[in-house]
Amino acid sequence: MSDILQHREAGVLTLTFNRLDKKNAITAAMYTQLAEALEAAAGDDSIRVAVFQGAVEIFTAGNDLADFRDNPPNTAPGAEPAPVVRFLNILRDFPKPLLAAVAGPAVGIGTTLLLHCDLVYAGDNAAFSLPFVNLGLCPEAGASLLLPKLAGYQRAAEKLLLGEAFYAEEAADMGLVNRILPPTEVNAYAQAQATKLAAKPAASLRATKALMKMPQTGLKPVMQEELARFGELLRGPAAKEAISAVMEKRKPDFSKC
Ligand code: COA
Repeated sequence: MSDILQHREAGVLTLTFNRLDKKNAITAAMYTQLAEALEAAAGDDSIRVAVFQGAVEIFTAGNDLADFRDNPPNTAPGAEPAPVVRFLNILRDFPKPLLAAVAGPAVGIGTTLLLHCDLVYAGDNAAFSLPFVNLGLCPEAGASLLLPKLAGYQRAAEKLLLGEAFYAEEAADMGLVNRILPPTEVNAYAQAQATKLAAKPAASLRATKALMKMPQTGLKPVMQEELARFGELLRGPAAKEAISAVMEKRKPDFSKC
C-alpha cells in the first residue's frame, strides 16, 4: 500500500499519511506524491476541496530523518525543485480550500503545513512542534513569516526558538486550530466540513481564498530565503549531530557547533 493514500469523493480529495511504522515521517517519494496530487487537483474542476489527514495516534513525525541525513534536498537557487520544495510551492499556491485533520503529534512540516491550510481541526491528543533549531536547522514553509503573523512575535519566537511541543488548546488560542474534537472524530468532522465546502460555488471559494491570501505577497521571497538557509544548515555540523543523536536515541552535543 502507498505511503500516501488518495481518495476522491464528492469533490473532495483526501490525502492520508499512511506510513505508521515510521510515524508517518515524510520521504522524498511521499512529497512527490503529495505535490502531484495537489497540482492535479488545482487544475481539476471535479475536485473542489483537499484534506490532509493522518491516523488517530499520529498526524506525521515530519520530514524523514534518514532522508535528511542521506539525501538532503538540493535547495540551491535555480536547481530543479526538490520534492519537498515542489510540495511547499503547491501548498502555498493551492487555489482551493485546504483542510487538515490532526490527531496526535504533528512535527516540523506536520505543523508548518497547517499554516497554509484554510481550516484545521485537531484531536485533543494533538501535539504540535517546530523542532528546527534543536535539529540544527531553521524554519521552512514560510513559518518565519506566517507564524509571527498568526500568533504574535513572542509566541512564535517561543515555538520556533525552543522547539517545545504545544497542544490543541494553545494551538486553538493561537488561531492555528479551528476546533478541538475527540481524536476518533477529527477526520470525520474535517470530511463533513470539506463536503459542505465542496457544495459551495467554486469560483466564490477561490476568489475568497485568493483575496485573503493577497496580503501575503512577501511569502515567496521569505520561502526562498528560508530554503537557502535551511539547505546550508542541513549540510552543517549541528544538523549532522542532531539527526544522528535522534536516530541513535541519545542527547545531541552542540558544544562545538
Ligand atoms: N524520520 C524517520 N523515522 C522516524 C521519524 C522521522 N521523522 N520519526 C519517527 N521515526 C521512526 C523511528 O525511528 C522508529 O523507527 P524504528 O521502529 O525502526 O526504530 C519509529 O518511527 C517509531 O518511532 P518512535 O520514536 O519509537 O515513536 P514514538 O511514538 O515514541 O514517538 C514521535 C513519536 C513522532 C514523537 C517521535 O518519533 C519523534 O519525535 N520523531 C522525530 C521527529 C522529528 O524530529 N522530525 C523532524 C522534524 S523537522
